[in-house]
Amino acid sequence: MRLFQLLFRASPAALLLVLCLQLGSNKAQENTPRIMIMDFQLSRAEDEKQEVTADLSVKTELKECMVVKAYLNSNVHIESGFNFKYTACLCEENPRHFFWDFKTSSNASIAAVVDIVRELGICPDNDAVIPIRANRFYTVKTLRAA
Ligand SMILES: *[C@@H]1O[C@H](CO)[C@@H](O)[C@H](O)[C@H]1NC(C)=O
Repeated sequence: MRLFQLLFRASPAALLLVLCLQLGSNKAQENTPRIMIMDFQLSRAEDEKQEVTADLSVKTELKECMVVKAYLNSNVHIESGFNFKYTACLCEENPRHFFWDFKTSSNASIAAVVDIVRELGICPDNDAVIPIRANRFYTVKTLRAA
């Protein structure tokens, strides 16, 4: 019982500590170059085919180049172009743009995923890194049924 009370009393202080640590880490993030900055858009054509186009732009604030694999994922099965995987060299001065065309008549959650991978022959002189902070990034959008 005593121990429980002690823990209970200690908790506001612990909470404050956690809060301070979080504020601290947020501050640290501001000065840290961002590994991956993603812009993901879905649009449906107005014509009778109503094909969906997914546009993904990626850039980095890292000085080093990275080999990236970009692909889409969904909670529903989608055919053909949707499943294409791009592999590219991403450098600070060379943002990349990927797009996919596909068809689906259902509502879907669609994720654009970027993995940073170790693959030879993509970046010039294989001069590329894999950050240890994180190497998978994604953003999710909802697609409404046609
Ligand atoms: C898609 O979602 C909307 C809104 O949630 C819903 O009204 C509609 O019935 C859904 N369509 C299909 C094909 O699931």
